[in-house]
Amino acid sequence: MIERVAEIQKQAEAEISTAATSVALEQLRVKYLGRKAELPQLLRDVAELPAEQRGAVGRSANEARQTLEALIEAAAARFEAEELTAALADDNVDVTLPGSPVEAHGHHHLLSATRREIEDVFCGLGYSVVEGPEVETVHYNFDALNHGPAHPARARSDSFYIEGGGDGSEQTLLRTHTSPMQIRIMEQTPPPIALIVPGRVFRRDSDATHTPQFHQIEGLLVDEGVTLADLKGTLLAFARAIFGADRELRLRPHFFPFTEPSVEVDVSCFVCEQGTVAGGNRCSLCKGTGWLEVLGSGMVDPSVFAAVSEHGYDPESHQGFAFGLGIERIAMLKHGVPDLRFFYENDLRFLRQFG
Ligand code: DAH
Repeated sequence: MIERVAEIQKQAEAEISTAATSVALEQLRVKYLGRKAELPQLLRDVAELPAEQRGAVGRSANEARQTLEALIEAAAARFEAEELTAALADDNVDVTLPGSPVEAHGHHHLLSATRREIEDVFCGLGYSVVEGPEVETVHYNFDALNHGPAHPARARSDSFYIEGGGDGSEQTLLRTHTSPMQIRIMEQTPPPIALIVPGRVFRRDSDATHTPQFHQIEGLLVDEGVTLADLKGTLLAFARAIFGADRELRLRPHFFPFTEPSVEVDVSCFVCEQGTVAGGNRCSLCKGTGWLEVLGSGMVDPSVFAAVSEHGYDPESHQGFAFGLGIERIAMLKHGVPDLRFFYENDLRFLRQFG
């Protein structure tokens, strides 16, 4: 009996020492110490042995069991540590690796990117960004902005009127410009104010340089002591931020119903020297003029302040300037986009160039 115990122990020790995984070890535990294994069975049978053998056999079998248990436990602890280390190594995340998938999912449309770029410039100058309704009343779109009764933009052939939207100044239409927000803002906010209004506008026009829907950004600043010099300095900062630090501005007299004086603003061409490109050829971007027309602007007309006089706007004490630019136009000039319709055709070959 005692020899058998020694034999079992020897064999078990050899197998335990070569077990390679915790699963193999568990199988050995069942094989040698499990309920049906030989050694425990032997221990159970000790009671039936003659009295003089019981002590020695019982002791040796018990010792063998304890030795094997200890060996298995030690090996199990080793495996557990090794397997944990391996699992941790497997799970290891290298946060410095590029994201997956590495390729970006998309990017802003050039018009959104341009709008945001312009917003950034004016936010940097202390302006707020607000938005307004796309369906406007004739009052806000034309009347309060000092458009005469015969102004051509009022014509049904030029603008999208909405049926059943009221009569006279309450009649509704898709706004033809972002300027109506000048009035809405002044009705809600006493001076001083400095805001820009990006948004969609609508006109009944369709060709390579006109689409029925396009985007503008309106600007309005009102305070005490504002002059045309402030307007020019502000727009120069804008032009340099968007088109390059060397840009100059030119203001040409113009007419808008809601500003007086009104100007059209040109930026010096950023691809040529005074209309001529390297090699002496005429610049195709500015058509050889050296100037690019970028926006309309002017000092707020006193008659516009009159429309909001009960809201704290008095032309005797306050002045302001306003401007309106086309986002498409800025993007076309800056990126050399030849046809306005590219913006709306959703051709990825076009869009992806501006990612
Ligand atoms: N609303 C004008 C348009 O759509 C653009 C414009 C011109 C806006 C002069 C202004 C401005 O605020 O001062 O043609």
